[in-house]
Amino acid sequence: MVSSFGSETDTHEMILMALADHKHVYLPKVVNKQKMDFYEIQTLDDMIDQNAFGIKEPKESCIKVKAEDIELMILPGLCFDLKGNRLGYGGGYYDRYLQGKMIYKIGICFDEQILNEELETDEYDIQMDEVITDKRQLAAGGKMIEEVRYLVAELLKDEQSGHGMDHIERVLNLSLKFCEKEKAHKEITALIALLHDVDDYKLFGIEGAQELNHAKRIMKEVQIDSEIQQQVLEALSCIGYSKALKGIRPKTIEGRIVSDADMCDAIGATGILRAYTYSMKKGKPFFNKDVFPIENLNADTYIQRCSESSCNHFFEKLLKLKGMMMTEAGKKEAKHRHEIMVSFLYHYFEEENVPEWREYLDNYLKLKI
Ligand code: ADP
Ligand code: NI
Repeated sequence: MVSSFGSETDTHEMILMALADHKHVYLPKVVNKQKMDFYEIQTLDDMIDQNAFGIKEPKESCIKVKAEDIELMILPGLCFDLKGNRLGYGGGYYDRYLQGKMIYKIGICFDEQILNEELETDEYDIQMDEVITDKRQLAAGGKMIEEVRYLVAELLKDEQSGHGMDHIERVLNLSLKFCEKEKAHKEITALIALLHDVDDYKLFGIEGAQELNHAKRIMKEVQIDSEIQQQVLEALSCIGYSKALKGIRPKTIEGRIVSDADMCDAIGATGILRAYTYSMKKGKPFFNKDVFPIENLNADTYIQRCSESSCNHFFEKLLKLKGMMMTEAGKKEAKHRHEIMVSFLYHYFEEENVPEWREYLDNYLKLKI
């Protein structure tokens, strides 16, 4: 929370409400011309001394808080543009404080203070995640996430085997949807989703995959907070079907969400199309009635071989994914997508007039469910 100044929105009521709700409330104190820190206040009486700008600040006895412990910052401003860029009274204190930090930022102002034209910004200016006025709410989207998205898009621009940017965007959207239901950290989830295929062993070899070289480079370039980088890398090292076959699964809720979203994108209507595209690229047929699937492939055999047809891939991998979901939101989504695949396969085998495959599917489902 930030105390207001001049024509900025008054935050006192908001501070009182947050305190009454037993929330932790932190307010800034200017340390020198460059720097400010945040201190926890218990009551408004903790706000006394005036700083050089005439703004009330927490008194000496208040306890200083680390930036990593701040989840949400509410910033009043002189004005904001539609992208969430903020114009304050100058000084760049907030831009410096927030640089490289994963703190969710909500700008507040009166609707008249929203500019339709874009504010001029430099690389140090911090963008709000949301701006709320007395009339509307604008979701601005973090600048850091945008930069990561741009770098990932550049890396995967020539990718055509099912890991292109379209797949990444779908996994990102689904992950953010799950995130709301599971109450997970939005930015961390977004980073894991955007970076989950940048070191895929199929695209960049087994060694690069183990080192997570691209993910490390991209997060360094965008100056992601080092603690967040660690959390993202930890999750990335546990995502993927072949890892799951070895019993390696993500431990954090954010990693689990992305794992579920990634697997969901391999099933359902989209999954059918991806399996078709993949087989075509590999010169394999969509269906070969003479070659039946190999069930229970272990991780090493799965990595080495490619299903003989898309239809075999359904049995060798895709129909198993529903049972590998780790979150409630993922389970619900996968159930629905699984049914679409099953229904598709029954209809397809009917049209192809291959009753032995219908029977195979019947038995497969009986054993699995
Ligand atoms: P993901 O990024 O979802 O983990 P994969 O790397 O396993 O996916 O594969 C990319 C896409 O290609 C997925 O939709 C997957 O189902 C499909 N695919 C992978 N192998 C085959 C195969 N042998 N035959 C048909 N489709 C395949
Ligand atoms: Ni993927």
